Amino acid sequence: MQLLRDAARFTPRPDKSSGGPIVIKDKSNTMLWIGTAFGVSLGLAIAVLSIKGPDAKSIHLALQLTARWAFLPFWMAYAGRSLVELFGPILEPLARRGREFGLAYAAALLVHLGLVIALFLITSRLPLTGVILAIFLVGVLCTYLLAVFSFRGLAKALGSTGWYALRTVGMNYILFAFAFDFVRVTVHGPAHYERWRLVEYAPFAAMSVAAPLLVLAAAAHRRLGKRHNQVRLRPVTN
Ligand code: HEM
Repeated sequence: MQLLRDAARFTPRPDKSSGGPIVIKDKSNTMLWIGTAFGVSLGLAIAVLSIKGPDAKSIHLALQLTARWAFLPFWMAYAGRSLVELFGPILEPLARRGREFGLAYAAALLVHLGLVIALFLITSRLPLTGVILAIFLVGVLCTYLLAVFSFRGLAKALGSTGWYALRTVGMNYILFAFAFDFVRVTVHGPAHYERWRLVEYAPFAAMSVAAPLLVLAAAAHRRLGKRHNQVRLRPVTN
């Protein structure tokens, strides 16, 4: 559990209610990350629908593309800090942006959900049903709960334990939802799909598996570091 505790951060920055330049600059930065992620996701969807025509088949393709795009900032929000612990401070600027990456993911996913509604309107059928629908709806709930609680110090209302629990369970659940799609097809795919299909899934499946392993490795690295320091600092008794 401790090991997953270090899972990524939707952690809001300290809100110096002075409203000084840092906060304003931060807010505009955050909006820039959110706007860019949403804009790219929307651009992908519009490009696919305008090239392939607005039918169910092309909406499915747009759903696959927007999910893959949303996965990238999510992955950085999840594993960014562990990358720094394992590979050094060169990635520190990215790790410090955990919240921005988390919000960018939530913004990109909005387009995915918009396409789901469009698919439902075109086919008059829910695109997913049963357990699979439940899996992804819980993923949506986790996503926007984390996003909402990362604003205006709302996380404080939950208390540090409550916020840490929401963050740990929420981030790992969303990772599970992504892995449920990517890993499942990659494992079962080769027997049923042509090789090209594997290229569409394997990199994302590998990232889904690597993310928690990076967090585990970083936590083990930290623990070993602490133990090493304790040994080094222990007074020599003759
Ligand atoms: C956090 C929430 C969600 C995540 C992480 C997620 C993830 C994904 C992923 C990874 C894909 C690509 C699948 C592939 O290429 O085979 C995808 C496609 C899709 N998603 Fe989502 N999704 C979420 C929410 C939803 C919801 C709520 C619905 C519908 C109620 C939905 C409906 C679809 C559909 C219909 C596709 C296209 C599947 C295909 O064409 O193979 N998604 N989603």
